[in-house]
Amino acid sequence: MSHPPADPAPLDAAARPDPGPAVADLDTIVSLSKRRGFIFPSSEIYGGINAVWDYGPLGVELKNNVKRAWWRAMVQERDDIVGLDAGILMHPQVWITSGHVGSFSDPLVECGTCHRRYRLDELPGAEDLSATDLRDESIVQRLGLACPADEGPLSPPRRFNLMFKTHMGPVEEDAAVVYLRPETAQGSYVNFKSVQQSSRKKVPFGIAQIGKSFRNEISPGNFVFRMREFEQMEMQYFVRPGEVAAAAFEEWLPARRAWYERYGVEPTRLRFREHASDELAHYAKKAIDVEYRFPFGWKELEGIHNRGDFDLGSHARSSGENLEYFDPATEEHFIPWIVETAAGADRAAFTFLIDAYHEEQVRDEKRVVLRLHPDLAPYKVAVLPLLKKRPEIVELCHRIKADLKKDMMAVYDDTAAIGKLYRRQDEIGTPWCVTVDVDSLEDGAVTIRDRDSMTQERVPAENVKRVILDRMEAARG
Ligand code: GAP
Repeated sequence: MSHPPADPAPLDAAARPDPGPAVADLDTIVSLSKRRGFIFPSSEIYGGINAVWDYGPLGVELKNNVKRAWWRAMVQERDDIVGLDAGILMHPQVWITSGHVGSFSDPLVECGTCHRRYRLDELPGAEDLSATDLRDESIVQRLGLACPADEGPLSPPRRFNLMFKTHMGPVEEDAAVVYLRPETAQGSYVNFKSVQQSSRKKVPFGIAQIGKSFRNEISPGNFVFRMREFEQMEMQYFVRPGEVAAAAFEEWLPARRAWYERYGVEPTRLRFREHASDELAHYAKKAIDVEYRFPFGWKELEGIHNRGDFDLGSHARSSGENLEYFDPATEEHFIPWIVETAAGADRAAFTFLIDAYHEEQVRDEKRVVLRLHPDLAPYKVAVLPLLKKRPEIVELCHRIKADLKKDMMAVYDDTAAIGKLYRRQDEIGTPWCVTVDVDSLEDGAVTIRDRDSMTQERVPAENVKRVILDRMEAARG
């Protein structure tokens, strides 16, 4: 199942007090996103389309940076993982073999009066139901559940398949049905042999992919938390069967949690939660989610799954292709098991945005500051003139900015007084502001102001880029 119900007994959270969310009210983030150009509702001039969101000028930078940070950790910094970019449309048999046509569904109930449809485990009073309860035909009656909109009677749950269907080619008949992929993982499985042979990787090795996935979610919502079109960052790690796979699974858990911490997420707002046996997806032997304390509760940020030989075994049987791996050291042939780390690019970007949000009192003013890690911040530097009426100051600003732009996102702004310009950059997470003033024309030095400490340092203009690059390097650790 795509979204298991909340488990009241998280793996590592026993007796730990709830840290509370970084931001009490989700609307704070929604309105900042809209106002400053991070995220807009899709097709808004036509009234919007439910559960699709568009990334504005700052949002696309943030999300690209999140994807880059993931790729860096999962591919660039490792020797045992390679990348792939498979198609969104795949042979329809892939989704029959993978089990998605048969079992990729959520429990849907419908109001007999207003005909609104709900995902059963999203209804008040049903959030903590077990997977077995969610399949129970009598559950609505047993719990006395009613439509939250008009109190109307609800139908027994039925399984609703989440895959979007479309037709390939110029005919709209059953034979031409294809699906928009609901996960990127299958692209890695069907390419396993090609990737392994062309890269000459030896097991254990991984295939990493970032790309769009689509799910016809019954109850999308909570802004970009659950969408119908979204992006995943998934890695499939091919390992020897049995205990070796179980050990690899345990190793990936802290590694993936550490990635969120490395990019600034407050550790107490992260936890692990293991799936109960009746909650496991059809492919999983074991599954543990990394959860984050969102303003709307603890929710899945990323899933880590021991998928056993389900995927390569099923695709080998169904396609007739031999997907065994030959280990030259032991001269054994075997179907590798798969340990998967499945993250969402949108959900990760959303998390970084929420967790970076701070409001503080500076003198008599409220300062809103996004303490984004410099690698994630949309702009690394803003170059600001103290006096925009002095052409020499403006000209020096543009020269500094042009030089910075060869290596990073930098922006020039002169549309307000300096205090206001700083606040605007704080609010979008720009780690450093470079200010050019009258003295700069005399001594060739400019001021670099730090977003978090608000301290200022005077440096020669020609050193600005070096100083910023050094600070970025230092932040990377
Ligand atoms: N290949 C396994 C898989 O897809 P999943 O737990 O269903 O596992 C992995 O999805 C991750 O993809 C989730 O942890 C979440 O970050 C992201 N994701 C899934 N459905 C999503 C949705 N409707 N909107 C946004 N992100 C989603």
